[in-house]
Amino acid sequence: MYQGLSAKRFLRSNDLLFPNVMKVFSIRDYGKVRAVELGGSPFGKPLMTTRVFLLDNILIDSGLKHCRKEVIELIRENPVSAVYLTHFHEDHSGNAAALQSQLNLPVLGHPITVEKMKSPRLVFPYQRVMWGAASSLDMMPLQGNIETDHFLLQPIHTPGHSRDHLSFFEAEQGWFFSGDLYLGDRIKYFRADEVFKDQVSSLEKALELDFEALFCTHNPKPVKGKEHLRRKLDFFQNLSGGVGELMKKGFPAKVIMKELKVKEPLLVKLMCFGNVSAENMILSIMESLS
Ligand SMILES: [Fe+2]
Repeated sequence: MYQGLSAKRFLRSNDLLFPNVMKVFSIRDYGKVRAVELGGSPFGKPLMTTRVFLLDNILIDSGLKHCRKEVIELIRENPVSAVYLTHFHEDHSGNAAALQSQLNLPVLGHPITVEKMKSPRLVFPYQRVMWGAASSLDMMPLQGNIETDHFLLQPIHTPGHSRDHLSFFEAEQGWFFSGDLYLGDRIKYFRADEVFKDQVSSLEKALELDFEALFCTHNPKPVKGKEHLRRKLDFFQNLSGGVGELMKKGFPAKVIMKELKVKEPLLVKLMCFGNVSAENMILSIMESLS
């Protein structure tokens, strides 16, 4: 039913605070990997979308809670035997509890993700608006590789964006499911809890692997994916070099930003109560250098 369907719809949400949400639901097949793009916003077109990936009999990530109905329907029509989370953020874990309770599916991830998902978490208002709040659940720690009917995925701990972040590598097919490790060749801002140093180590770790397709949740690069990931590492290293030079002169973060022409996206910073900002990124780089 969903094959090739793209839809932008104004539907009732699953979130009591936001009963009417403009939704995005779109399917794209990259060979044997089905990417389902999801988005939702109570105030017009969603600013950002996210994806879940279906391959064989598994689902990677569970999407945002605003799209719970669509995700449940998708999995009813494309049955899977397990759900694997890359990390605990709302746009990845939003429907994990519903998939477990309504479809009786096991949900697995990093042990830190298991801990994070145990108790109800407070989210910033912007997260509630953009994604909806994920419900708590008892999920299982992932141990060893994931064997599907035709594929073998190796979980790789790639912290930095979040402490619990996992990527999944399929060596035979040359696929790398990168969660939020990539996002773009250049990054404009960090969440407050992102760690630059760990992101660099994770990017270096990923670049030791051999893959073509980079299945990023927000920005997939099916061709030359590894080159894109390398570009992000180059961007980070160049930025870090510039920050390091200015730190030697004793400049504070705000002056470093001005010197390097790193712009603060003020609207984003305001909307996110400072939880997302360019300054967070610069401060994290400075911390990695001190
Ligand atoms: Fe994330």
